[in-house]
Amino acid sequence: MIKLHDKHFEPMLKNELIETEIQRMATQISQDYAGKTPLFIAILNGSFMFAAQLMKSLTIPAEITFLRVSSYQATSSTGKVLELLGLQESVENREVIVLEDIIDTGLTMEKIKEQLLAKNPSSFALASLFHKPEALKTPIEIDYLGFKIENKFVVGYGLDYDGLGRNLSDLYVLKEE
Ligand code: IMP
Repeated sequence: MIKLHDKHFEPMLKNELIETEIQRMATQISQDYAGKTPLFIAILNGSFMFAAQLMKSLTIPAEITFLRVSSYQATSSTGKVLELLGLQESVENREVIVLEDIIDTGLTMEKIKEQLLAKNPSSFALASLFHKPEALKTPIEIDYLGFKIENKFVVGYGLDYDGLGRNLSDLYVLKEE
């Protein structure tokens, strides 16, 4: 059991299991994109560890870039606006594969996808290491998925609780008090 800030977390998935699954995803992507050079777009901060591990296991040429998203309440009429920050590469006519740590409600990815599709990539795919199907609030198609997990808060392997826990090599779940 570990403690981050005020909360306790217990082990959920071992690093070996996570990385075996990422290897499987990389093999599948390498087959599906044989003869192509996809542009991976990793969503910061959470996907850095997943992205690094996946990239090492690919057997095809590939490029990677990173983006952050910021969301803010614009006006009450337009609701939440999400901005893509840091994307320098041109996405036009590229085979884009977005790398995300976890799809929870799916609302973030819905907006990211909308904005990336507006830049006219030749194709779009989503790879997510984790997914909480019960938390989904909008339909999101995940082309490459690592693990479906319960609708509970998790940390480790890139995921944080208030800044802490990203460096843990295993995945941990919040312990119910
Ligand atoms: P969504 O828009 O609800 O799908 O949220 C996606 C983002 O919320 C992810 O990219 C994570 O950064 C964060 N997130 C969702 N669930 C968790 C969790 O269990 N632990 C840590 N971060 C999470």
